[in-house]
Amino acid sequence: MARKLSASCIDLHSPFCPCILAETNHCILCSHLKGQSTCDCNWAGVCILYEKYWQPKICTDEKPTVRIEVETTISRRELIATNTHLLGFTVNESLAAELGKTGSFVFLKQPSDPEFFHFPVGVMKVNGRMVEVVIEDVGPKSKRLLTGGEQIVVRGPYYNGILGQPWIDNITCGTIILVVGGMGQGPALAIGTKLLANQNNVIAIIAPGKTEKIFIGQELRELGAMVYAVDSLRRSGMGILGRLFEAGEKIDLVVSTGPDEQHYGVIAAMQCASVNIPMAATNNATMCCGEGICGSCQREAVDNRTLRMCKVQTDFSQLAT
Ligand SMILES: Cc1cc2nc3c(=O)[nH]c(=O)nc-3n(C[C@H](O)[C@H](O)[C@H](O)COP(=O)(O)OP(=O)(O)OC[C@H]3O[C@@H](n4cnc5c(N)ncnc54)[C@H](O)[C@@H]3O)c2cc1C
Ligand code: FES
Repeated sequence: MARKLSASCIDLHSPFCPCILAETNHCILCSHLKGQSTCDCNWAGVCILYEKYWQPKICTDEKPTVRIEVETTISRRELIATNTHLLGFTVNESLAAELGKTGSFVFLKQPSDPEFFHFPVGVMKVNGRMVEVVIEDVGPKSKRLLTGGEQIVVRGPYYNGILGQPWIDNITCGTIILVVGGMGQGPALAIGTKLLANQNNVIAIIAPGKTEKIFIGQELRELGAMVYAVDSLRRSGMGILGRLFEAGEKIDLVVSTGPDEQHYGVIAAMQCASVNIPMAATNNATMCCGEGICGSCQREAVDNRTLRMCKVQTDFSQLAT
């Protein structure tokens, strides 16, 4: 498996490319669609310039495909820990199918609330047309969604919820350590399910974090993962991780789902054990539009480039601290 990931756009090869950024000459990948006169893209199997000018949807002056908003009803609601709620709702078949992709998330809000109440929520499970998410009541947007009525507006699909997504999608018959903290449990269940379906051996180290409860441990075990449930990653989880690295078993990938501080802790443990393997990590940027337009998700990379994290798929270790 390639140790380095070259930065790419998460919407490449999707119905959402070419996007509004290409329309405004700010495409992430195509130099021509950034206003330059020469082509120096890192060829990824598709020419965005060709797609923009010659594909039928553009020739007929159709606008770039944008995400749909659907209104639906919360059909399952469960308090799974203090301030942490599991919500289930149905969407149409095509949206449900898209939300099965690794790293998928949606924006949610109450129908009567203005656009700026929309906030990103990762998909934990898709079963037919039923989507399950877990939401922590932390501030105005989540409180409003969780305490309002049963009708909600879902906007999606968005895909860049995990950095290092190709590593997760492409690995088969490997050994993966999944390090999970608090609200990272939602995406961890989706990722663990995918990895196990691809005949991988998954070792999960899970801590409840601020949610104060481990709610995916049993399900991951039933799916075939080996689960270490710990009270704290800092106090005991990182020690287990270090010992797994030092045990000498071949580990192909580490996936960290949780806050950025946890990702840095995992990187430190890898450095301490002189382990040099790929690490995928949840994308914790602040996101408002999800389309590369508003700029709220911008982060600096180690090479001083600024990256719009809702669009750019990269390696977490390439982000500046
Ligand atoms: C890709 C992605 C997936 C996420 N998945 C989940 C999930 O499955 N469940 C869940 O409970 N939360 C998830 N979050 C975080 C969630 O979006 C924030 O908790 C929510 O926006 C908080 O808004 P608030 O108004 O309730 O709280 P605030 O008081 O506004 O913020 C509380 C915390 O959330 C962060 N935050 C605020 N607005 C945003 C925003 N627009 N985007 C990202 N972070 C924000 C703040 O920096 C702060 O740390 C996800 C975030 C991202 C980027
Ligand atoms: S969320 Fe608006 S640019 Fe990324």
